[in-house]
Amino acid sequence: MNQGDWRKDRQRIVFLINSPGPRDVVEVMGWVRTVRRSKGVIFLAVNDGSCLASLQVVAAEDMPGFASLDQLGTGACVSVRGQLVASPGAGQDWELLAAVVKIVAPAGEDFPLQKKRHSFEFLRTIAHLRPRTNVYGAVFRVRSQLAHAVHLFFQERGFINVHTPIITANDCEGAGEMFRVTTLDLENPPLAAGRIAWHEDFFGAKTGLTVSGQLQGELFATAFSDIYTFGPTFRAENSNTSRHAAEFWMVEPEIAFADLAMNCGLAEEFFRYMVLYALEHCAEDLAFFNQYVAPGLIEKLQAISTAAFCSMTYTEAIALLQKSNHGFAFPVEWGCDLQSEHERYLTENVVGGPLFVTDYPAGIKAFYMRRNDDGQTVAAMDLLVPKVGEIIGGSQREERMEILIAGMKSAGIDPQSLDWYLDIRRWGSCPHAGFGLGFERFLMYVTGMENIRDVIPFPRTPGNARF
Ligand code: 4AD
Ligand code: MG
Repeated sequence: MNQGDWRKDRQRIVFLINSPGPRDVVEVMGWVRTVRRSKGVIFLAVNDGSCLASLQVVAAEDMPGFASLDQLGTGACVSVRGQLVASPGAGQDWELLAAVVKIVAPAGEDFPLQKKRHSFEFLRTIAHLRPRTNVYGAVFRVRSQLAHAVHLFFQERGFINVHTPIITANDCEGAGEMFRVTTLDLENPPLAAGRIAWHEDFFGAKTGLTVSGQLQGELFATAFSDIYTFGPTFRAENSNTSRHAAEFWMVEPEIAFADLAMNCGLAEEFFRYMVLYALEHCAEDLAFFNQYVAPGLIEKLQAISTAAFCSMTYTEAIALLQKSNHGFAFPVEWGCDLQSEHERYLTENVVGGPLFVTDYPAGIKAFYMRRNDDGQTVAAMDLLVPKVGEIIGGSQREERMEILIAGMKSAGIDPQSLDWYLDIRRWGSCPHAGFGLGFERFLMYVTGMENIRDVIPFPRTPGNARF
């Protein structure tokens, strides 16, 4: 890491803590976490978000302006200049002996983050302030590191990054969960034969926010071989669960000349890389989660580095669930969609780690998945992990024109509306496969946070888009 010359004298606290002094003159700026007063001296814990640890600032009464520090409270913004010295106190190796403490802006006792611990529910109601807590500071630093790791992983392997569109006329998953994008006057829309005239809308067609970049990703894969897209996706599904958000980020690689087994291989290598990256680059924050949020977390993550991922077919999974006598709320029979309780049972109770379930019935999966020779199932794969359930969904794609068209028709999709998607099967078609990893679900897995609302800076869920 490089501090950057433009910062002038201001030091990021993470640099002071990791490559410490003693140093004669340093300057830090940040926000006061705690103030402790004792006779003739004030101790401030100053945090600038660069790392979990705060820097201990010691202001003695002979410091000019000491009296003005009376008004200093939790949440205030300060700038401190002084000397970095070995700390005689327990709890930190280094501390800053202040020569000057400037209050950039005070914070009164009405600052909401006075207590040491608040519930996650309460902190969600102040999503604009929660980044200044330890736990959300850690979450969003890990999020930043892992977003970077996504690009590293694929770029190191020669994948081309493609920015697929946010506004689209196609519902990739065909689940009818698109948010509409329109400039029509909804109170007085243009009509044609008594219905809204969408052809008069901005794009000349009905459009919405993308639910997945896959379809366009497939087009790029048939030109660049190995591609990935990583961006926001939107789903208007009204499911108020701890694992669903209306706006979330998805990592979607698409690989040409690949079958389902290669797709699972890529998913496993990617998943493992991301976990190891977090262990290596987010050690301080993960240790915090391990201690306060999810005991055993680090051990679980370390186990991923060596464990082989288990795999079973949907048909095998159904048989296991049926003979389990577990008393599921949703009954299990061949052809049903796996519910979260089933997924968790399989990954937590049956294999105790990540699990690929493959070859689902065609009827419960999207139109683009490749039909298996049995005529019943498709070359699909979901990766399930303990606590979170489904974290990756993918498949080999149907590259055979007639079978793809038949699949579209039985899903109620007009092949004409996706003529451009069919074109890549028309000229130089090739076997290809890909998957989508829900970035927030992955963050839940790595941090141990149990609600998706707590790994998104400003979450969008039904009834909630305030911040
Ligand atoms: O299984 P899904 O729907 O698959 C696709 O969208 C494919 N087009 C991906 C592909 O093959 N390129 O979604 C993929 C993943 C899920 O496994 C889950 O982790 C996440 O995206 N996901 C959600 N995450 C948060 N909130 C939601 N509402 C989500 N819906 C899906
Ligand atoms: Mg899925």
